[in-house]
Amino acid sequence: MIDQRELPVSEVYVTCRTAADVAKAIRTMVIRGAPAIGVAAAMGIALGMRRSRATGTKQFTTEFQRICDMMAATRPTAVNLFWAIEQMKRAYADAAQAGASVDDLKHRLDAEAIRIHDDDVASCRTMGVHGAALVPDEARILTHCNAGALATAGYGTALGVIRAAVEAGKRVTVLADETRPFLQGARLTAWELVRDGIDTTVITDNMAGAMMRLGQVDLVVVGADRIAANGDVANKIGTYSVAVLAKEHGLPFYVAAPLSTIDLKTADGTGIPIEERGAREVTHVGNARLTPEGAHVRNPAFDVTPATYVTAIITERGVARPPYTDALAALVRGAQPAAVSALS
Ligand code: MRU
Repeated sequence: MIDQRELPVSEVYVTCRTAADVAKAIRTMVIRGAPAIGVAAAMGIALGMRRSRATGTKQFTTEFQRICDMMAATRPTAVNLFWAIEQMKRAYADAAQAGASVDDLKHRLDAEAIRIHDDDVASCRTMGVHGAALVPDEARILTHCNAGALATAGYGTALGVIRAAVEAGKRVTVLADETRPFLQGARLTAWELVRDGIDTTVITDNMAGAMMRLGQVDLVVVGADRIAANGDVANKIGTYSVAVLAKEHGLPFYVAAPLSTIDLKTADGTGIPIEERGAREVTHVGNARLTPEGAHVRNPAFDVTPATYVTAIITERGVARPPYTDALAALVRGAQPAAVSALS
């Protein structure tokens, strides 16, 4: 996998040979972004089980459970991780119930991981089409963090909407928040969009309000790490501030995320676990120290934007509008976009 910690300065790849390698890559942000984490975990499980020396299904099942637990312990907020592990467990259970051998199970897990990967790319493409319809012919779009090809199996969620709007012939320019402290916006979003030839301007996070007040933003689109049943959205720290600013300035605030990001088991944002990462991400940029020794540091990696700030949630199955409790449940159940629009 491409090492996202090194972008945009160098494009280097990390080779994972064991499930533990994949878990480490997720934990240390070699790979990040909710859907990408889920896909990587599924691939990691398939890889780990492919290398298993177990001869009987009993021992194989014990190893499978251990590897699933290892993946689940990597990062807590993005629900796509737990969703992907559940998909792998379901595939395993179905095959085991049908009397699959150890070799059959290995093949079944490989196939399931590839399906999760392929479905994610397809979801991003469809989400892009739904989202592009919400973008005016000329639009200055602000985005936060990186919800692009790097954060998914390909194409992106929020950046998928932007890409689809450009492909539809719309004249789009992008303001990319730098996204302190890990700089996903400055490093990764800008890298992706510049490579695509999309006009991109990087701003520091504290410039977003001024840009809106100056009339230089038409809409905001971001991704999500977990969307609660009531439409509260956990996403990269700083998203909440952008949402409040958007509302104050009367700008649409869209969230683009696949159904695998919707967590109907969590009633609202208060139930979403927020990862607190190490102090060094805040105290240093690279090897350069920014803060004095002795100063305390906080580093919550995500925040929760209450549903009241969210204009619409764009998924591969259609666009949900408030009130979200019914609209999201209908989407997850499989209702078509028309039915969801009727609910809004
Ligand atoms: O800590 P990260 O970089 O994994 O956080 C990523 C984000 O918050 C993204 O906005 C989110 O996962 C959506 S990615 C399509």
